[in-house]
Amino acid sequence: MRALLFAANWKMHIGPQEARTYLSTFLGQYSERPDRQVWFFPPAVSLEAVATIVAKRPDLLAGAQDIYWEPKGAYTGAISGPLAAQAGARATLIGHSERRHVFGETYEQTGKKLAAAVRAGLHPVLCVGETLAQRDAGETLTVVTRQLEAAFGARVEVQATVAYEPVWAIGTGRNATPQDAALVHQAIRGWLNDRQAVETRILYGGSVNVKNASQLLAERELDGVLVGGASLDPKIWAELVRTAAT
Ligand code: PGA
Repeated sequence: MRALLFAANWKMHIGPQEARTYLSTFLGQYSERPDRQVWFFPPAVSLEAVATIVAKRPDLLAGAQDIYWEPKGAYTGAISGPLAAQAGARATLIGHSERRHVFGETYEQTGKKLAAAVRAGLHPVLCVGETLAQRDAGETLTVVTRQLEAAFGARVEVQATVAYEPVWAIGTGRNATPQDAALVHQAIRGWLNDRQAVETRILYGGSVNVKNASQLLAERELDGVLVGGASLDPKIWAELVRTAAT
């Protein structure tokens, strides 16, 4: 059976109280299915609230949106892998395009964060993707490959997930076609296979919604989706997870 992963990236939305209300609606509308897992990436302040609730269901999991690479210390505003794990996180996004492009996160820093995630026992979900200018210049695969190399380095034995999220498709209402996504997914899989990496799921992200999720997931290269905007309403998210690719 093809197992799909539906990951919700709430970004800077949904505080702890809102998260409890959200999950009570979501759990009422989405029952566990053997062929899908649902991962939630709430803001750090809501992590513990989400992790406590999803711990009751084996198909659900909570993760951090970002971690700092040092385990502890004088780093005001940052959270470390061990702190996220203590709040109940079992995974973390690494190198989301908003971290790279809004906060200036470098390729080198994604490598340190991926290593820190592994040390803290968090499953890394590495986000990669090109800008529109890079796509137009025909640099998509070069950019994605450099992002993989910088983040994984020699650590291809780690159990991770890769999310291909073209920057021009995030929050823009413009998604990649299933064929566009499949070409990049194949290149990512090729890169991982060349290095004998362990079995790695590859998600697509960027303006995925209830209407286009099934069409995207009909492409067998996609092992799931990473969703921002369409995951913020629990009813819409439940409908997406319930109906996509069925
Ligand atoms: P979007 O965001 O679904 O709102 O485009 C996806 C993401 O940034 O992970």
